[in-house]
Parts: sequence; structure tokens; C-alpha cells
Amino acid sequence: MAEDDNWVDIGATEELSAAPLKRVTAMNRQLAVSFKDGKFGAVSNTCNHVGGPLGDGRLDGEFIVCPWHNWKFHRCSGVGEPGFEQDRVPAFPVKVENGRVLVNVAAGSKRAKTPHEPHPLARKVERAAGPLRLAGIATSAMDVANPRFSGSDHLLDHALRAAGNLGADTRLIRLNDLNFRACEGYYSKSALACTWPCSITQMDAKDQMDQVYEALVHWADAVIVSSPIRWGAASSLYFKMAERLNCVQNAITIRNQVLICNKVAGFIIVGGQDNVQAVAGQMLGFFAELGFIFPQFPYIAHSRGWSREDMESFPISPTRAAGRAKTWNATSRSCATPRSSPRARPCWRNAVSISRIISPPATEPRRRSYAVDARRTPCTPECTGGRSHHYSGCRGLSPRLVSRH
Ligand code: FES
Repeated sequence: MAEDDNWVDIGATEELSAAPLKRVTAMNRQLAVSFKDGKFGAVSNTCNHVGGPLGDGRLDGEFIVCPWHNWKFHRCSGVGEPGFEQDRVPAFPVKVENGRVLVNVAAGSKRAKTPHEPHPLARKVERAAGPLRLAGIATSAMDVANPRFSGSDHLLDHALRAAGNLGADTRLIRLNDLNFRACEGYYSKSALACTWPCSITQMDAKDQMDQVYEALVHWADAVIVSSPIRWGAASSLYFKMAERLNCVQNAITIRNQVLICNKVAGFIIVGGQDNVQAVAGQMLGFFAELGFIFPQFPYIAHSRGWSREDMESFPISPTRAAGRAKTWNATSRSCATPRSSPRARPCWRNAVSISRIISPPATEPRRRSYAVDARRTPCTPECTGGRSHHYSGCRGLSPRLVSRH
């Protein structure tokens, strides 16, 4: 690379004109070099937003589109797209001599960053005064025009109603009602490309995942997530939501920004196969990574075994079944430990038993759980209705195997 004063030779015209946009290094400076309509342009490679590599982007007319979140800058002047002209990246003079492209790296214009209106979710997490707040997130997917009974939805409705009767503020979000995009894996481009609030939320005003972020990060003290079991895992909508919550977890790992602190999560899991522990374990692991804490017995789950896919017969009573239906506790928001401390431990003296929320009110006669019935009611003439009927599923096998129940 030949140098003449501050003009730096960055390569042959033939080579640089072969691609409309390229990342080039000139004297330790990263440039986004473009070629269009016979003219070269050179601007800084670093995007004004959160540092995306402009040279790896694409051209949209005369503008370079950042590959991370689509901010645009003029390929020759570095000026932002219409409406954001004050937002500019450094631009450098370019000339062509003897078949070589030269850039004056010392004569770049100045970078200017215009403050952008922060997204409402970016506000400081502060708990306003008020009663305990419980958010329910129903993840069951169904045809809205032809709805069906959902055991997990039903139990969640019951829990929220009971919490309301105890004086809590409640909020229900059905993922099925929301229109939100799948995570597009910005963190796989670069850790810094994953932002809080989520890049999609900031770019797409129609995306409704902001309702989940608002509830989990800003509003709720406690969250209950309900899910059916689908092929041995939580529902597809649960995973779609979980992937979009990457930005909450990445905020911790990338920026040491703990958004969820001293909040409790619990789960309602209903399935037609005996996999509740695996599903609960996955959900617990993920919500722990988000910053939630868990009390003793953090999930309630119902399963009727492999031979019982009759969803219409799933438990409609939230009565606890020993070893299967768990109660969980929520720590009171009046905990003396400062909520701002990311390492704060819950104050168990103020624990509020959410088993009272999950369980029917004392005034209601307590009904027998169908889950319990399923365990004890033989499903075939040979079945004794014993432990493996419920836990592993009775498939009407030979009398010898059935006798092991
Ligand atoms: S748009 Fe360039 S880093 Fe976000």
C-alpha cells in the first residue's frame, strides 16, 4: 500500500469496483468503501447506532444500510437518511489515479450523533407504589375462531382470578393474541447487535412483544407462565417468546445490565405425556437466566400419562395432587432488601403463599383432582391404576408387565 502524505492507496479500481460495498482497512482505519454509477465513496465503517460494520451492509440507492439494525448513511457524505441528516458518520475524500483508488484518511468529516428518542421500554426499572402485581402469560396456541378448552389456560385464569380476590393487581397476556416476530438472531451477528429493548421492538412498531417486555421487566412482581406439553417440550409459542427474551438475558452478559431483579416466576404445565419434570426444568433454567427467583415448589403440573391424550378430561380443578401438582410462593415486594441490588436475596419472612392463589378459595368445596383420579383409575382391565399408570403411562401391556404397576 503506497502512501503519499495523507492519501492512502486502498487498492485497484478494478478490484474495488467489483462489489458495490466493501470493508477496507487504511492506516488502521476501517472504511466502508462503495462503488456506484462510476463513483467511489468512503465513510467510516462504524455505525452511529451501536457500532455495526457498515462495510458489511448493503446499498439502498445512495445510502449504506447497516447490517445490524438498518440505520442508513449516505455512502459519500456520511449523512444520515432523510429526517436524520444531523446523524452522520465520518466521510473521506476519494480519488482515482493510475488505476488505483486513494483515500485521504486525515481529511475525514466529523462524526455527529443526534440523540434519538429512547424507546419507552428503555426507561429505568422502578417499582411504583401499589399492591402485589401478578402477570400471567398463557402460551397455548389455538384457532381463535374455533377455540378449544385449554387446561393450562384454565388454570392460569383461575390463578389470576384468585390472586385478584386476594388484592393483587393482575394482568393476563395470551401469546396467541399477540402479533410478534420470531427472534432474528442479532446476537449471532455480534453480541453488541442484540440490544435492550429488543432490536425488532425498536424497529417494528407493529410487533407486540413489547407487551411481554413491559409486563416482565417493568410491571410485575410475580409471573406465572402456563404451557401445554407438545412433543415433550413447552409450547411453540413459549419458545417463540423465550427466544425474544434473549435480549433480556444478553443485557446481563453483554452490558451487566440486570433488568429483572427480585421477581418471582412460577409455572403451570399440563401435558398428555409424562414429561413435566423436563419441561419444568427447561423453563426454570431459562427464567433463572433472566433473573427470576424461585421459591420452594415453583410449578404446578398435571399429566395423565402416555395413554391419556384426552385433553378434554384434563384437570379442571386446580387441587394439588401429591408429588405432581406443586405450590409455589411469591416473595412480597415489601422485602427490605433493595430491589436495585442484582444479587439481592429474597426476604422469606415476607413470603406470600401463592398456594392460596393456585388452590381454590377456602369457601369453595375442594374437589378431587382429575390428576389423582387418573393415577388411581385403571385404564385397562389389567391395569391396577398404580404408580406407573400415572408416571410412565399404562399402554395395556401384557399382564406380566402390568403387574409391575
Ligand atoms: S443500525 Fe448500525 S449498529 Fe444498529
